[in-house]
Parts: sequence; C-alpha cells; structure tokens
Amino acid sequence: MTIQTPTSELPAGLPDLSELTRLAGEFFSALPGGLPKPTPPSALGGVPAPAQLLPGGTSTGPLTQGPQLPGTLAPGANLAPNNPQSGLSLVASAPSLQPHAAAPNGLPDTPVLAGPALDSRAGGPLLGVPEALPAPAAQPPSTPYYFLGESSGYPSTLKQPEVPREDRVSARSFGLPGADDLRALLGENPRGTGGSQTPAPAGVSNANSGSGYYFLSGPQADATRQPSPAGFDVNAVRRDFPILQERVNGKQLVWFDNAATTHKPQSVIDRLAWFYAHENSNIHRAAHALAARATDAYEGAREKVRAFLGAASVDEVIFVRGATEAINLVAKTWGVQNVGAGDEIIVSNLEHHANIVPWQQLAAEKGARIRVIPVDDTGQVLLDEYRKLLNPRTRIVAVTQVSNALGTVVPVREIVAMAHAAGARALVDGAQSVSHLRVNVQEIGADFFVFSGHKIFGPTGIGVVYGRRELLDAMPPWQGGGNMIADVTFERTLFQPPPNKFEAGTGNIADAVGLGAALDYVQRIGLENIARYEHDLLAYATHHLQPIPGVRLIGTAADKASVLSFVLKGYTTEEVGRALNEEGIAVRSGHHCAQPILRRFGVEATVRPSLAFYNSCEEVDRFIQVVRRLSSGRAR
Ligand code: ALA
Repeated sequence: MTIQTPTSELPAGLPDLSELTRLAGEFFSALPGGLPKPTPPSALGGVPAPAQLLPGGTSTGPLTQGPQLPGTLAPGANLAPNNPQSGLSLVASAPSLQPHAAAPNGLPDTPVLAGPALDSRAGGPLLGVPEALPAPAAQPPSTPYYFLGESSGYPSTLKQPEVPREDRVSARSFGLPGADDLRALLGENPRGTGGSQTPAPAGVSNANSGSGYYFLSGPQADATRQPSPAGFDVNAVRRDFPILQERVNGKQLVWFDNAATTHKPQSVIDRLAWFYAHENSNIHRAAHALAARATDAYEGAREKVRAFLGAASVDEVIFVRGATEAINLVAKTWGVQNVGAGDEIIVSNLEHHANIVPWQQLAAEKGARIRVIPVDDTGQVLLDEYRKLLNPRTRIVAVTQVSNALGTVVPVREIVAMAHAAGARALVDGAQSVSHLRVNVQEIGADFFVFSGHKIFGPTGIGVVYGRRELLDAMPPWQGGGNMIADVTFERTLFQPPPNKFEAGTGNIADAVGLGAALDYVQRIGLENIARYEHDLLAYATHHLQPIPGVRLIGTAADKASVLSFVLKGYTTEEVGRALNEEGIAVRSGHHCAQPILRRFGVEATVRPSLAFYNSCEEVDRFIQVVRRLSSGRAR
C-alpha cells in the first residue's frame, strides 16, 4: 500500500490554502475573545507526522481476511481436551500456584487478617511491613472520599441533574411500539388501512388495553405491573448516547450489536475525562493528593459494583479485564485448587466459549471431565437432564444467566441451588444479563458471578469477579506482583487479603471508575424499567421478524432477553449483515463465540440483532424493512 503524504493541493473547486487561512482568520477574529493564541509546536508534542503510517503492504480495510484455520482440523478440534498432555500448562501460567517458601517467622503464608496498615485501601502510610508498623491512628475522613481533606472530586451523581446534559440530537419520535403499532398488534385500531395487516401474534395479550403497551404471555408477563416505566423516555435516553447520532452509509446508525458491546452515555465519557483531567494517579492512597483522589475514585467504583450486585462486602469484588479473564481467574485459582482427576465440571450447551475453554483447559490439566446440560428445541436448559448429571464428583457448575447467541434467560437460581445440594460450587456468567435484568448475587446464591463493563455501557478492559468471601480467602492468588502483597522477602511473600490478593500490578483504574459511572447511569434509569421496555421491544421485533418468509429464528425460549438470532433462507449470514450495514444497521453475523449452541440447532452462524434500552420501534421497523426486502428479492 502506498501512503500519500499530505500536500497543500486541494481538489478543484475548493478555495486554495491561502484563501482558507484568510477565512479562518476572519472567523476566529469574529469570535468573542478574538483569534486563539497560536499553539507552539512543542505543546503539540513537536513530533512531525510520520510519512509512513502503516507497515508497507498492510491493509486495515474492513475486508481484511484473518488467518485461515489449519485446513486439516475441524473447527474447535484444537481446543478439545482429548489428550491431557496437550492442554496448556496451568502451572506455567499461574506462578502463584507454585510452591513458595514458608515464612521463617512462622506467620501464615496468606495472612488474610493483615492489619489495617497492610491494606492499601485502608489508608496505611506504607504497604507491606506487618511486623514493624503500628496501625495508624483512626482518623475519620474529612469527606466520604478524600481523607486528605480536599474538597475536590468528581461531582457526585446525586448532585447531578437527572436530565441529560447532551442535546445534540434533533427531537425525533422514537419510542416503544407507538400507539398505532400497538393498536395494530392488538387488533384495535390498526395502523394504516387495516389491523389485519398486523394481527396480534400468538402469545401477545393486551395486558393494559389502551395504555400503549403490551406484554408477552409467559413467565415474565405480569398483567398487574405498570406498563409505562415511570420516568423512562427513550428520546431522552438516546440523547445521552452521542454515538447514536453517527451516520453510516449516509443513514443514521442503528446499533443492534449490543450483545457484542454497548455504547457509552455521555456521563461515562465525562467521568473518564474527569479522571484523567483531575484524579489520575496510581492508587497508593497516602502518597499524595492525586493518589488519594484516584484511590477513592477506584474504591468508590468497587462499592458501586458491590451495591449493584447486592454483594455482602466490597472485599468480594475483584476488578479484572472482563468476563473472560474473570472465568479464567476462577478456573486457574479455585479450579486448580479444588478440581482433581476424575472430577466433573458441568456447563450448559448455551455457553460462550469463555465459559467453556478455561474449564476444558483445567479438565485437560487435571484429568477431569466436562459434562454438558442439554437444551430443548427452544434453547432453554433441561433441568431434569441437569439433575441427572449432578453427582458426588461434580465440583463446579458454570452457567450463563443469559445466552449471548440466543437470548435465553437461564433459571440460574434453581441451577445454583441444585449444584449446592449436590455439594458443588456454582459460577454464573452475567456478561449478557447485567444490562437487562436486576441481579442480586446473594439471591441467586452464586459462589462466583462475573461480568464485563463494556456490555453494560461502561468502558472496555474492565470487568468483575464476585466471589464469596470464604472462598476467596481460601483461594491462592492468580498473578503475583505489586499491590497484592503484604510483605516480600526473598524467602517468602505474604499476600494481601481479597480483593487485593487477586489484583496484582496496576489495575485499570480509570475504566473501573468509568464502570462505576455506567452502573450509576443504569440505576438512575432503573433495571426494572429497562427490563420492561426491552421485553416489549423484543416482542415487537419478534412479532414482525418471525413471519417473514425464509426467516428461521434460532432461540425461541419463553424467557428471553433482547436477542433475535436468525437465518434467512437463500442468504448467507454475511450477506444479510452486509445488506443491513448498507442501511446503517449494525448486527453481528457469525458464530458469536458460541459454536456448540449454534451447532445444536444445525447452523454454523446466525444474524444476531441484539437490543438495548436506547433502541426504538422505528429502528426495528428499518431493520424489518431490509429483511423483508431480502426475503422477497430472491426466489426460494
Ligand atoms: N461475547 C460477545 C458477543 O456475543 C463478543 O458478541
């Protein structure tokens, strides 16, 4: 590829450079305050732009092909734990699991009850010298956060007006099934010429006639609930997300790829900017003012996660990169410690690869066995079959709460209770659930619960492991290094108690803080309001998609969250994805990192629109239009 260096030549028809400079000068002079001072090159970094921005010959275009899989291997065959010797070495990847020298002074190797001075979060002046330092005198902080007595800090969400601060969008009529659509659905006062064009789908009942809302019958239906989520206004919500005003192929973006990642409200973007502008430091609280700010912001975020999950203590909340790293952490610490030869690990057929591969690796290393809970033809797990899998060799049951590929909401509370009755532990993967329904880890009873920040309107690169305190106390650390230690000599290391024990090195401080802002945001809207709105939006979309000739929905469980996986006869999933993209509509097409469940339904890939509470019926209509056009455009 040849990269052209910029020149001062402009396309014909545009004013030349000197004319543009003159116009810019006039423009800035007309502003209050006049012409901005010229910025010295040194302030801009002073580094000339490289002439060659990309390695020669590298294409970064969207059509770049990834490397081919080895042709001789069936997809996934390289991951199968047929030969335990071929598994990744967990010992090599988990240094803390190797035996380390015993403390010569007779102290326990993992002093979880280290004094306050050992806990960086408790404000100790120095870290990690348990014997030498007395606990600091208890000093009540001057503010809930800034013990150094400062008054600065990010404006609390409590002080913020609840109205959106962003107003870049023009007012538009987005919303739940508009009155016309609803009347059409309910056969009352159909849109256009006649209600027969959109008959009420099976399972849709009018729970609140005339209200403008409708509900699916089934486990989630509740005719007594208020249909209009108080205070929920999709127009206002949309204004909080600047990216929703992007245009793609000349059309306003429709983001239906929320199961892959979600967009960020302005409050999260602002919070990250504020952190870097006012608080940025490593989190050694007592060193200086910014360290105190950063520590308080980070630990404040941990408390927000605790409250969001209903955990008993902030010590049960570990920050990691995301749900994948979270499951790996559990498999490579608790798993290595507690799973042995001949033991069994149960997962469901619905799992994302992130909740399969780490367990496969563990099973390969230990000579354990993976067992799989099957699903029925709607994509719901079969609890009776699960019951048959449980036995005294079962060590852990790891299941998703919501399937990323099908949207099935899995009855995790029952699954966890059955695991416990069999003497096993249970991990719940909440990557796809936390943005759609209220979660309480204590009600679920989970031993471990994991999720990713970027799927709940927070930044990428930050996620959470919730673990019950007594389990975390007994688990070995995962990675070794700074921050997780109480004291280090060349003979032995004393670890911090959880959660620090599992957070070696400098964490993703800013993004943890951003995650806290995201959790504030969804809680201001209300998880119940979100769940109700999305449920209705999903019902609307399903009602219009399902009858299109050639459409086959994959995943039709009664209890579903915001995912509409489908295939369209006569088209590859890539073709459908491309046609939607041409209209500015983003969906994921492919295997969604969940090959086993797609193969259960006889497909290798689906088109997967996945909705969030900032999506609207108008957007669904645009999507349906494209699928209808494709459906009618090719002979079957
Ligand atoms: N897990 C993400 C998805 O489902 C990447 O698309």
